[in-house]
Amino acid sequence: MRVRVLTDEKAVARAVARRVEAAIRERPATVLGLPTGRTPVRLYRLLREAHLAGRIDFSRVSTFNLDEFYGLPADHPGSYRTFMETHLFAHVNLSRRRIHFLDGTAKDADAECRRYERAIVKAGGIDLMLLGIGANGHIGFNEPAASLSADTHLARLEPGTRRSNATLFGGRVQAVPREALSMGVGTILRSRAIALIATGEGKADAIAQALEGPVTTRMPASLLQLHPDVEVYLDRAAASRLTAR
Ligand code: GLP
Repeated sequence: MRVRVLTDEKAVARAVARRVEAAIRERPATVLGLPTGRTPVRLYRLLREAHLAGRIDFSRVSTFNLDEFYGLPADHPGSYRTFMETHLFAHVNLSRRRIHFLDGTAKDADAECRRYERAIVKAGGIDLMLLGIGANGHIGFNEPAASLSADTHLARLEPGTRRSNATLFGGRVQAVPREALSMGVGTILRSRAIALIATGEGKADAIAQALEGPVTTRMPASLLQLHPDVEVYLDRAAASRLTAR
């Protein structure tokens, strides 16, 4: 893992935006994996600005979002799809047919997960997977557990994860769905390159364990140690419990 510690959240967003810009410049038909959450908000703003300034052409780019709440229609105000429309999709020239999302309203969750895996393969696989991390070490909605699902699956959310997603639901934890569809750790690890992004003190423990602790399903982000091309972008606060620096 190549770890980059930057001064603050702004510097992290700038560095990741440059990484995305370079990937698209090198390969205009890049396939991106995308996260939601507070962490990538500033990054998405920079990507919008780069597009407006003519530095990024998204016309041939494909995107696959990591996860979506189960039971929510795409246009629900709390859905991850709505989040992505607000922060990125509505403002750039991505082709609608190249935006891929898990359908939270699918009756047959397993069939929907299989469809998503096939769509990723059909697109040629994910070139660059951008990832956030939960305070408990989750990636996507792969929560710490005795065992994990490799492929896209229906996941049960931890109470803490529901609490941290409550802002999307007007602060009401009860309104946050209990389940979500999520890429599996295997889906994530099949990406050609991965950029893990973490900012703030609240992520420092998870980052220390994920990067320096044992590889274990109890800390899902630690499985990223198995991938040959991972860049980790941290601000000083998120890097503060790393011992090797
Ligand atoms: C959410 C998402 C993850 C995200 C993480 C961190 O629950 N499912 O994909 O990386 O939690 O969120 P935040 O960036 O808001 O801290």
